[in-house]
Amino acid sequence: MKKLILIAALLASPLFAQVKEKIEVPYVAFPIKMGKGFDALQANCLMCHSFGYMINQGRQPRKFWRGKVDKMIKEFKAPIGEEAAKAVTDYLYKYYGNQKLK
Ligand code: HEC
Repeated sequence: MKKLILIAALLASPLFAQVKEKIEVPYVAFPIKMGKGFDALQANCLMCHSFGYMINQGRQPRKFWRGKVDKMIKEFKAPIGEEAAKAVTDYLYKYYGNQKLK
């Protein structure tokens, strides 16, 4: 019987585990570069997802960025006009580009 109680207590104990220390969630700031075209990106891209989706791609050629903008329009029905699409592409290429067109 004593054994059973001990086993029951051991089995139940994780349920009562508590974290005593104060947990600090690290604040991760995305380095968003301000510049021409950023307003177009803010108005046309950030309603669906954060800026992290873009900078997580790393530095990329112009064609890559244009392809992503087109993908957003085609696949996800992002309501973006040609003028804004170009402004966003220019911005991404200038600040997160790798100097290559393709
Ligand atoms: C209508 C909503 C919507 C808008 C507006 C939108 N996106 Fe997205 N975006 C998505 C979805 C959905 C995904 C895919 C999420 C996933 O796979 O988890 C995505 C993913 C991405 C990715 C990750 C890479 C990939 O291929 O999936 C990038 C980069 C990106 N978007 C860039 C942009 C840019 C730049 C704009 C503005 C021109 C934009 N998005 C506007 C919905 C949107």
